[in-house]
Amino acid sequence: MAHPAGEGAAQGAFLRACRREPCGATPVWLMRQAGRYLKEYRELRERVPFKELCRDPALAAEVTVAAARRIGADAAILFSDILLILEPMGMGLEYSKGDGPVLGNPLRAAGDVDRLREAEPGSLGFVFEAVRQIRRALPAEVPLIGFAGAPFTLASYMIEGGGSRDFALTKEFMYRDPAAWSALMERLVRALAPYLNGQIEAGAQAVQLFDSWVGCLGPADYREFVLPHTKALVRGLRPGAPVIHFGTGTASLLEAMREAGGDVIGLDFRVELGEAWRRLGEVAVQGNLDPAALLGDRRLIRRRAEEILRQAGGRPGHIFNLGHGVLPATPVDNVRFLVDLVHAWKG
Ligand code: CP3
Repeated sequence: MAHPAGEGAAQGAFLRACRREPCGATPVWLMRQAGRYLKEYRELRERVPFKELCRDPALAAEVTVAAARRIGADAAILFSDILLILEPMGMGLEYSKGDGPVLGNPLRAAGDVDRLREAEPGSLGFVFEAVRQIRRALPAEVPLIGFAGAPFTLASYMIEGGGSRDFALTKEFMYRDPAAWSALMERLVRALAPYLNGQIEAGAQAVQLFDSWVGCLGPADYREFVLPHTKALVRGLRPGAPVIHFGTGTASLLEAMREAGGDVIGLDFRVELGEAWRRLGEVAVQGNLDPAALLGDRRLIRRRAEEILRQAGGRPGHIFNLGHGVLPATPVDNVRFLVDLVHAWKG
């Protein structure tokens, strides 16, 4: 196969799978692989608040690299958070113990969108520095994934002021003032494209867009209010780094998400991988074990993981992952067990 000298071997299975090239064993990494299920992480967090951890490139790098090594993942994901970009845009952001993230001054009217700032390029320099340090510390064969929140999911945090069950305020905003909604989504795209491109320039070899909450929308709303903006974002990204486009609750949105863009579509655990892949056609897929399966015993983990591997059938273009992030109560030995079993699987 034509590869620049040595690149194919050095790139490893994850990047090959993103490009739907054959690779030996199925590559695997897990969303939230650096997090509270790891004792080392919990210990660090007793000393350092979450935002400070994200803002300290050396610590963020250490957490990223240690997690990938600990579980034997085929890729590392930058330790950071999708909401950090909202601060330089003028939003207050606090992570409260129990309640999750809180955005201090939620957007409720068109005027609030006009008052947002353009994120200055230097304001997230600590993220790019973390990427550079991670790239230096990681073994050459383990690629680094950068990431950002997708415009819809970030807009929902800006409008709701935090997490939400029904996204009523977000939908109300979208339906009542579609012009202000478009203006907000366009501002987010203007901030996100240079943010992701900065990560790629600093050394991220793939990027994932987290549209975690977009599954609250039906297909018509997705096509009208989200697709054009996500598409503009994907088109604005530097070529060369594969884009993973992930959301949850997206069973009715998969075709539209694919239209919006991405080299890899991230599947949540509510769909069957085989059927979802058939619907999606010629694109790589990532997923999709229920994170809760890792709370079960090894027989259950093996059974569920092998069902997914069988559905993928060893076709090039499958990256094994969970259907959402690792749960904090997950035993780390179960994570290791899963990674080893994916690597050992031989159709
Ligand atoms: O290991 C990794 O995946 C990389 C790091 C990462 C974090 N957040 C660290 C984090 C990534 C990729 C994210 C993305 C993120 N952040 C998403 C999209 C993924 C998803 O889960 O759907 C979302 C919606 C957020 C927003 C966010 N950040 C929430 C809702 C919370 C609180 C809930 C929770 O899990 O605690 C956070 C905080 C957060 N981000 C933590 C971590 C490790 C926990 C902070 C702590 O240590 O207390």
